[in-house]
Amino acid sequence: MRKIYIETYGCQMNLSDSEIVASVLSQEGFSTTEDIHQADIILLNTCSIRDHAEQRIKKRLQQLRAMKRKRRDLVIGLLGCMAGRIQSVLAEEEPLIELVSGPDSYRDLPQLIQQVESGQRAINTILSIEETYADITPVRIGSNGVSAFVSIMRGCENFCSYCVVPFVRGKERSRSADSIIREIEKLFTEGYREVVLLGQNVNSYRWPEDDTGLDFAGLLDQVARISPQLRIRFATSHPKDLSARLLETIALNPNICRAIHLPVQSGSNRILHRMNRQYTREDYMERIDAIRRLIPGCTISTDIITGFCDETEEDHALTLSLMKSAAFDYAFMFSYSERPQTLAAETLQDNVPSLIKERRLREVIDLQHQISQQSNRKDLGKIVEVLVEGESKRLATNFMGRTSGNKVVVFPRQHSHPGDYIRVKIIRCTSATLIGEICT
Ligand code: 5AD
Ligand code: SF4
Repeated sequence: MRKIYIETYGCQMNLSDSEIVASVLSQEGFSTTEDIHQADIILLNTCSIRDHAEQRIKKRLQQLRAMKRKRRDLVIGLLGCMAGRIQSVLAEEEPLIELVSGPDSYRDLPQLIQQVESGQRAINTILSIEETYADITPVRIGSNGVSAFVSIMRGCENFCSYCVVPFVRGKERSRSADSIIREIEKLFTEGYREVVLLGQNVNSYRWPEDDTGLDFAGLLDQVARISPQLRIRFATSHPKDLSARLLETIALNPNICRAIHLPVQSGSNRILHRMNRQYTREDYMERIDAIRRLIPGCTISTDIITGFCDETEEDHALTLSLMKSAAFDYAFMFSYSERPQTLAAETLQDNVPSLIKERRLREVIDLQHQISQQSNRKDLGKIVEVLVEGESKRLATNFMGRTSGNKVVVFPRQHSHPGDYIRVKIIRCTSATLIGEICT
């Protein structure tokens, strides 16, 4: 049986896609391996979100070149967001890559592999307007058996001016509600206790895709009914689409996790406008107030970009002040990286020097570090419900799990098992982790 090794870069959506790839190939008699040296085919599932991501993949390809020299029959393929950009980005490494498949052509992989094995290069980077892989049951990769990703929609049409996603992943399309519910029911019977519903913009979910269709709040409500023992998370939400109806649905269902990821990107209206985010700082803070009012105790996380085109010190100070007002529990923070094809690359100047971008990023990271620490300190002495995921990375006698608010909790495992809901008393914390003891 031929063995495939899949290496995934980028977001959760890409991890979920790798599971679809594993499923498509397993139906054709391939098996996946976690040992790259056992593999007959190495597939890199790539990311284009920042230049840094693409540079990492280029470096990886150089290492693989050495492997290929020793094993001529080894096939190296490139999947995902960089696939459509291969000619322009990977001129040098190109001959090494015999197979290229974009995010919407994974069903074609068995045939592409056959083509490579018959001595031809195989490329399919066509984007689809309807592919959602609805009928494909993912083969879980590196799973803890407790938490699983479920893709509910693909593509994005928001066209934030910095973002390459609409160009590499194409038009927005929702997956049928029936197929989502069926997949989650199956996961629950297999012992999974948490699903993460994924899409670039889950708030625009609609099935069927017309005015009469089920919206995201409706879908969440249906998923929540599968079992009170099943936790539901989702990512990512666009602030402009976070409706009161959605917040009410979360408030009414205790098994929908008390954690909302709401990327703000900047605290300055001037920059938000240039980013084409379609909300103001005031709109955003109004959403934060609504979350705090309707779902007390909900954690809120965000994404921030520093040094976007024309960002001044004043704009940057507005981002810092918004971070303090919103008191995010945690954040993913980046410096701006110009991406080809985007509105910003075509119409704005990437005019903030990289040293300034990096300095602002450091200030944002330092501030968030303090805010996260304060947020975690508030949990000291509390008893929280934790879904146990498995061994802690640092110490095998410890287990780790998460609170409904998505905070990581580490504790001595005692009699607990992955998949259990347990009560943990928090006794210590860092800015990233809560440390506690099981309550007996
Ligand atoms: N440069 C820097 N960060 C970016 N992101 C998206 N595009 C870029 C870019 N060109 C960040 C945004 C987004 C997260 C997934 O990545 O913050 O929310
Ligand atoms: Fe995910 Fe965007 Fe990177 Fe593609 S470009 S892998 S959608 S983060």
